[in-house]
Amino acid sequence: MSKKVTLIATAAMGLEAIVGKEVKALGYEDIQIENGRVVFEADVSAIPRANLWLRTADRVKLLVGRFKATSFDELFENTKALPWEAFIEEDGEFPVVGKSVKSKLYSVPDCQSIVKKAIVERLKVKHGIDSWLKETGAFYRVEVAIHKDEALLTIDTSGSGLHKRGYRVGQGEAPLKETLAAALVQITNWSPDQPFVDPFCGSGTIAIEAALIGQNIAPGFNREFASENWSFIPQKAWDAAFQEAEDAANYDQSLQIFGSDIDPDLIEIAKKNAMEAGLGELITWKQMQMSDFKPKQENGYLVSNPPYGERMGEREEVEEMYRNLGTIMRDHPSWSVYILTSHEGFEKLYGKPATKKRKLFNGFIKTDYYQYFGRKPKSKPDNGKGFGF
Ligand SMILES: C[S@@+](CC[C@H](N)C(=O)[O-])C[C@H]1O[C@@H](n2cnc3c(N)ncnc32)[C@H](O)[C@@H]1O
Repeated sequence: MSKKVTLIATAAMGLEAIVGKEVKALGYEDIQIENGRVVFEADVSAIPRANLWLRTADRVKLLVGRFKATSFDELFENTKALPWEAFIEEDGEFPVVGKSVKSKLYSVPDCQSIVKKAIVERLKVKHGIDSWLKETGAFYRVEVAIHKDEALLTIDTSGSGLHKRGYRVGQGEAPLKETLAAALVQITNWSPDQPFVDPFCGSGTIAIEAALIGQNIAPGFNREFASENWSFIPQKAWDAAFQEAEDAANYDQSLQIFGSDIDPDLIEIAKKNAMEAGLGELITWKQMQMSDFKPKQENGYLVSNPPYGERMGEREEVEEMYRNLGTIMRDHPSWSVYILTSHEGFEKLYGKPATKKRKLFNGFIKTDYYQYFGRKPKSKPDNGKGFGF
C-alpha cells in the first residue's frame, strides 16, 4: 500500500485552484496546479480517496508517463519503456483514446494505435505471454494526450465523470454540472449553520451539493469507479476509504437549505434527486417565483444560477428578474448573494457592483460568478423565525 503513484485530478477551466484546495484538504501536499489539472504524488490509497471525495474535479487519472514525442518512433519507444505491467494485469482490457493539440503528431488514430501496440509488446514480455492478450478482465482506459509535442500517458481511474454522483434521476433544460455546483458553494464562506437559498433551483443541483457539503458526505458515496476492480489497489484501500467516508459524514448537522423554482415539475424532480442523494427531507423545496422570495432571517446565503436571457424573447424578462432580485436583496444587507450568469449587464441590472467577480465556464458558456458579501451582523442573529416559504 505504500506504492507511490502520480495522480491527475482534471478540472474545468477556472476551477483548478479549487480542485487544488480539495486535494490539499485530503492531506496531499506535493501538488502542482496546471491548466485544466492538478497533479499530485500520493500513496495508492489516494485513488479511492480522491475519487470518493473530490467534489469539483472531473476525473482522477493515473499518470503513467510524460515525455516529449515528435515522431512515431519516439512515441512508441517511450511508451514501451513505461511500467504498464505494474498497473494492467494479464487479462486487463485497455482501449486507448487520444487527443492532440498544437503538436507534430497530429493524427490521433495513428497515435492511439502506436500506443496500443507499444503497451501490448511491453505487457506480453513482462507477463510472459506469447499469444494474443485476452483482454477479458478489468477495464483500463488509457489516454494519450499530446500537447505541444509533450505526450501524457494516463489511465482513467474514475469511469464515468465524477459529476455523475448517482443521484440525478431527472433534470431540467439547463442543469448545472454537479462539480460546478459544488464549486459555486465552496467559493462562498457559507457554513452549515447559516440559511442557504437557491431561488432558481431547477433540478436542485446547487442545494443538493450544499447539503452534501454541509453534512460532509462524500460525493462519490453512491457510485462505482473504474478502478474498483484493479488488482494493484488492495481491496482494503477501498474498504478503508468507504469506512472513512462513513465515519466523516455528519448526519446530525442540521441544515436550513431551501430551493425554489417557478416550475412545479422541476420542484418534483429536485425532490426526487434529493431523495436519491440520501438527503430525505433535509432540503425544503417550494414552487415559487423569485419575486415572492422574502428572507425572514439574517446572515443567509443566496447562491444561484438563474436564466441567462440568451434565448430569443427571454432577455427582457430576465433583466427584469435581475432588477427585482437586486431590489429584494437591498433590504437584506446581511445576506451574501452569489450569482452565476453570462449576462454582462448583471451588476447594472442588480443595481450594485459585485464585491468580487470570477470567470467560470458553464459548459461552453463564458460566465461570471458575481459575489456580494453580506454585511456582518452586529449581534448574533436570531434565525429561529422561519424562512418565509
Ligand atoms: C438555469 S436554470 C437552473 C438550473 C439548476 N441550477 C439545475 O442545476 O437544475 C434556471 C431556472 O430558473 C427558473 N426560473 C425562471 N424564471 C423564474 C422565476 N421568475 N422565478 C423562479 N424561477 C424561475 C427556471 O424554471 C429554471 O429552472
